Amino acid sequence: MTAREAKQENLEQTMNDGLAAIEQAMFDVTNSEVEVLRDASHHILNSGGKRIRPRLLLLSYLAVGGHDINHIARPGAAVELMHTASVVHDDINDHGIMRRGRPSVNSIWGRTFALLTGDFLFTAVYELMSPYKDLNIDLANSATALVEGETLQASAVKNNNFTREVYMRIIALKTAALFKASSSIGAKLANATDEQTEALANFGFNIGLAFQIIDDILDIVADEEQLGKTSGIDMEQGRGLGVALQNNGTAVKEDPMESIKRKMLEGDTIEKGREQAQQLVDMAIAGLHVIPESDAKDELIALAKLVIERNY
Ligand code: IPE
Ligand code: IPE
Ligand code: MG
Repeated sequence: MTAREAKQENLEQTMNDGLAAIEQAMFDVTNSEVEVLRDASHHILNSGGKRIRPRLLLLSYLAVGGHDINHIARPGAAVELMHTASVVHDDINDHGIMRRGRPSVNSIWGRTFALLTGDFLFTAVYELMSPYKDLNIDLANSATALVEGETLQASAVKNNNFTREVYMRIIALKTAALFKASSSIGAKLANATDEQTEALANFGFNIGLAFQIIDDILDIVADEEQLGKTSGIDMEQGRGLGVALQNNGTAVKEDPMESIKRKMLEGDTIEKGREQAQQLVDMAIAGLHVIPESDAKDELIALAKLVIERNY
């Protein structure tokens, strides 16, 4: 084994250990005595998920010299639980019946318990973050942004003013803010310099924007089985995208987002979206020049590329 291979294996081991510690922290904190909360939380956590936000936190931490995995378990769990809470609530709003390849919390336990499970997951974040003083501010800001983004989106749909500018504002708030919090919290936990923290915060923000653009494209072009969640032009009635288009774009479901997404299929919206996501990822990677070379930095770059190359 070359020295480089040995180092890479080392990073892989560290990542595995770090992610395992994060999983443990998530299961521990959601181990409520109230059965429904515990079961529904563990159902969504056991359904998989890419764990991209804790991965980003962990790699940011390692890239600026962090080395104590125990130090990141709770904040890593906190960013993932914040995200998990948001998808549990999002599936209520979006009438999502599938999430991570399994029935969503709302489709098994119903709206009321899904709402409460989301609340429970959000409040678990407080408990996890209690020892981390200032870092709470970063995470709280991203929680506020997330709610603002989801609200702006619902308003834009309602008021029919879903312009490109509004769209960018929405995705910055609902998705990129938590990515930014993840990378900057990782950097701060390792006592990074201000310059490094800013670079990693920008990195997280830009790949977060790209991530949501690709997510919205996949929502239109990928099928549900591949995505593992209820997708945009859905097949509630067993009909796929092809059928929806044959219908001359007649709505197959009442959600107003459907017609917006269908409009995106016309013209070059998807191609333009992919180009923009690529530019954001290029910009994110270029901004890492202030981070010293390391395997963790290489992995951050690989993660950024995966954001646009993924198909689920
Ligand atoms: C889905 O996020 C919601 C968005 C912000 C697009 P992920 O694609 O990270 O969901 P999981 O955790 O892998 O299921
Ligand atoms: C997911 O948003 C929730 C947040 C980003 C807060 P979307 O509705 O765009 O994502 P999916 O497609 O349901 O995962
Ligand atoms: Mg949704």
